[in-house]
Amino acid sequence: MLLFGGESSEHAVSISSARNVFAALDDTKYDVVLGYIDQSGQWWLLDNIMDQIDVIGLPQLLPVLGSGNFVTIPSSEVIKPNVILPILHGVNGEDGTIQGLAKLTHIPIVGSGVEASAVTMDKVTTKQLLEFNGIKTAPFEVHLSDEPYSSFHQLSEKLGSPLFVKPAREGSSVGVSMASNDEELSAAFATAHKYDGKVLIEKAIKGRELEIGVLGSGSDIRVSGVGEIVADREFYDYDSKYSAASETKVIIPADLPIKTRDKMRDIAKKAYLVLGCKGFARVDFFLSNDKDVYIIEANTLPGFTNISMYPKLWRQEGMTYSGIIDALISDALEK
Ligand SMILES: Nc1ncnc2c1ncn2[C@@H]1O[C@H](COP(=O)(O)OP(=O)(O)O)[C@@H](O)[C@H]1O
Ligand SMILES: [Mg+2]
Repeated sequence: MLLFGGESSEHAVSISSARNVFAALDDTKYDVVLGYIDQSGQWWLLDNIMDQIDVIGLPQLLPVLGSGNFVTIPSSEVIKPNVILPILHGVNGEDGTIQGLAKLTHIPIVGSGVEASAVTMDKVTTKQLLEFNGIKTAPFEVHLSDEPYSSFHQLSEKLGSPLFVKPAREGSSVGVSMASNDEELSAAFATAHKYDGKVLIEKAIKGRELEIGVLGSGSDIRVSGVGEIVADREFYDYDSKYSAASETKVIIPADLPIKTRDKMRDIAKKAYLVLGCKGFARVDFFLSNDKDVYIIEANTLPGFTNISMYPKLWRQEGMTYSGIIDALISDALEK
């Protein structure tokens, strides 16, 4: 069951990822059921993914806990997926909830389980766990919505300037802003708090933005080479990620000294293990101008859109798009 859509702000991103994944699924091997989650959280059985999605008149999908089945309503057809492939991002998709539902329904699911999904969804928890295990992340503070605000001066004294302000549990740069003074900081807090009561304030790292793919579980974990994002604006925001007019470049492999590349690959693997990831993840870094390596975040359901880094990183390693998806499905079935 290819599960996509979802309730988060990344609904549209999920649909474009899922279209690519569907096209890459080998139809001689797989019989694909399309489970679409609309923005209100209702699940539908779609008959195709390529057209504009219209759920009117379609059957809804209900999980039957403990049975390995879904049933459709009103038609009561039983659907028994061997595996769920969640191409969902953000809240109620990437955060452990779908993973918990799959577990309760007794259906294997591709990727990380409940714990790692929940941990990595929250950038603050991720950072705390990484720092605890000796992996460097950008210096940060946390702001909860009912707490008093610190001024720009107070925060920049501690963290430096400019600052990044982000919702703790979002993705696709939604709600992320950079702030260089009090006015920008208040606006940044207001934006971030629209998405989450928990907000992360981070030192802006000046340097290069780099990403690494990790694939597999247990004793069979593969780490890709390093890809670089060269954003066409101040930072890699939503439009620079997805707009047709974006001139952001993805460079694979990133031009790096071998020592730096290998150090980053080791850190990516360590982070994957420390965070408890399974199946796959993309670990995102900054390499500062003074050559320090910082993890910015880990994504347990990386994008599969046309511009997405994860499939491109593996293509560079000689894997086809279909090969990546086969590997992910085998990993879930072995688990
Ligand atoms: N500490 C930072 N220093 C420099 N740039 C940052 C920092 N944090 C975030 N960014 C920029 O903002 C983008 C989005 O932030 P990120 O933490 O990756 O959130 P998301 O989960 O929304 O992708 C990053 O891709 C990067 O361009
Ligand atoms: Mg990111």
